[in-house]
Amino acid sequence: MLLDPYMRKINYLRISVTDRCNLRCRYCMPEKGLPLTPHEEILTYEEILRIVRIFSSEGISKVRLTGGEPLVRRGIVDFVSWLSEIDEIKDLSLTTNGMLLKDFACDLKRAGLKRVNISLDTLIKEKFNRITRRNGYEQVWEGIREALKVNLTPIKINMVAIRGLNDDEIESFARLTFTLPLTVRYIEYMPSGHGEEWGEGEILTIPRIKNRLEKIGQLIPIPPDQWDGPARRFRLDGAIGEIGLIGPVSDHFCAHCNRLRLTPDGKIRTCLFSDEEIDVKQFLRNGGSDEDLRKQLLMALKTKPERHHINTHQFKKCQRNMSAIGG
Ligand code: GTP
Ligand code: 5AD
Ligand code: SF4
Repeated sequence: MLLDPYMRKINYLRISVTDRCNLRCRYCMPEKGLPLTPHEEILTYEEILRIVRIFSSEGISKVRLTGGEPLVRRGIVDFVSWLSEIDEIKDLSLTTNGMLLKDFACDLKRAGLKRVNISLDTLIKEKFNRITRRNGYEQVWEGIREALKVNLTPIKINMVAIRGLNDDEIESFARLTFTLPLTVRYIEYMPSGHGEEWGEGEILTIPRIKNRLEKIGQLIPIPPDQWDGPARRFRLDGAIGEIGLIGPVSDHFCAHCNRLRLTPDGKIRTCLFSDEEIDVKQFLRNGGSDEDLRKQLLMALKTKPERHHINTHQFKKCQRNMSAIGG
């Protein structure tokens, strides 16, 4: 079992396989995109697999693939099938913007992927273009439908809530759960990297969102012993889907943090908001042994911060962009 200095059990590795993305969401990237990591600096799938095998033998049992957009990286289906052969990995999932999901869902399922989380911040076609700066609303829905069809479930829809942008859609997102077996998750915007910035007044906090949801139906809590991760889980009375509330700012869940992150260029990040990273690529590429890599993992654990400092005077926005961390 992997324990950090605050006695948190670490069993979850989020792997960002690429910093490339086919959308330009305002809260994440500037219109022109960002300088991309050169190919030779990106870990190969073989290198990532080596890390996952070592980490899973120490206690990592949950792996999520993220990006950028993970489905734009060539060979992703084969990579999923290799990961799914690692016995210790019990939960293998992927976070995607859904643009390519229609074409990939069936192959991903066959390759052993268990489930997907899909980012979708609006249910209005024109607004999708405004938020992501690309066309693709219908394409994402085709992806969601295909994921439902091939049972990449439970499917979670991530909605980053921002006043003046999509705050008029809180209720319509929730109503989806009456007709579709989806989990709709509201996420507080977190200041990070090079996305557009919103001030305190524009951020919709989770308590406010919860208040509004309570007006459309009874929010029945799912017992906390069934939570696994940052979302507080609920079901609207009569709904077939679920509601998840993720409040990294108003209700930070750092005390229960169970995760490490691996960046596309081979750095372990111990906290979403800390730029202190541990370079595992140098060991991979300079003949490091499995024991060297295990030591890096243990060192990373030792340096995991107790919490983030958003909304405190100590807060410094991190340098690495969200698209190269994977949320
Ligand atoms: P599940 O296993 O399905 O619960 O996935 P997840 O919630 O871990 O993954 P997902 O990629 O869907 O992330 C959901 C949201 O939670 C994203 O906005 C993330 O940025 C945010 N998030 C995930 N991990 C952390 C974390 O360690 N700290 C903070 N502050 N936010 C996080
Ligand atoms: N604040 C909150 N959530 C964010 N995401 C990306 N950038 C931010 C941000 N600044 C979300 C995406 C995706 C998840 C992995 O992280 O919408 O669903
Ligand atoms: Fe791409 Fe995700 Fe960033 Fe949107 S939030 S630009 S989908 S990496």
